Amino acid sequence: MRSNADPVGVFDSGVGGLSVLSEIRRQLPAENLIYVADSGHAPYGDKPQAFIEKRSFAITRFLLDRGAKAIVVACNTATGAAVASLRTRFTLPIVAMEPAIKPAAAQTRTGVVGVLATSRTLASHNFVKLFERYGAEVEILPQACPGLVDQVEAGDLAGEKTHSLLERYLAPLLARGADTLVLGCTHYPFLRASIQEIAGPDIAVIDSSEAVARQLCRRLEAHGLLNEANEPGSDRFWTSADPAMSGPVITQLWCRDVSVDRLPEAKV
Ligand code: SIN
Repeated sequence: MRSNADPVGVFDSGVGGLSVLSEIRRQLPAENLIYVADSGHAPYGDKPQAFIEKRSFAITRFLLDRGAKAIVVACNTATGAAVASLRTRFTLPIVAMEPAIKPAAAQTRTGVVGVLATSRTLASHNFVKLFERYGAEVEILPQACPGLVDQVEAGDLAGEKTHSLLERYLAPLLARGADTLVLGCTHYPFLRASIQEIAGPDIAVIDSSEAVARQLCRRLEAHGLLNEANEPGSDRFWTSADPAMSGPVITQLWCRDVSVDRLPEAKV
């Protein structure tokens, strides 16, 4: 039997899902949160679907063993590759990512929207459906961005290599008149300042972390599982990489000194 005080389990291929976690923390301050960064296996973008499914199942099982009352798949690539089968296997509420193409289509003035994501996300059924739905109203330009996830995993948000990768990926979108850029990977919000600097102040840069946190709130409410305690909830962090390497990056992106434990591989 699940209770309101049970934690929400959140996972990503690595540290990118912290962009979603911080929005969850902002909107739901009383919730206890457990975060798993599968940084030992990042990026997911270049892995086969079966591998991503296997990792997503094992991590969900780990979070359930730690009492999770709901799961947030804070990874666009894992959403595309594994969320449908996670939902058939597990009965608890599972909230997943959706690139913010709907709000982008509503707000673009030039009618051109660029979508930055991994090639696996861009080839996913979810993305193809969004493309079909909104592609008649606006021009949607998909842009795969190999290498960016690794830069964020290394905590390099504004170095020379990150900057030149971003210039390379943004140039064709800006040249074709995109005035709205959708961040379709949870790692990319950490690059927002660099993206905005390259694209300029007139270009809107949007992601879906706020919408995902709102959706989690709705699902918890619908299941009577919202934590309405008056004290702030706890945060716990796990990584499948070496915590000595991953811990400082999690601390950097979470903007708070945190302790990070190693994911027990036997269980995952
Ligand atoms: C990746 O691990 O390749 C990207 C994660 C994401 O799509 O959010």
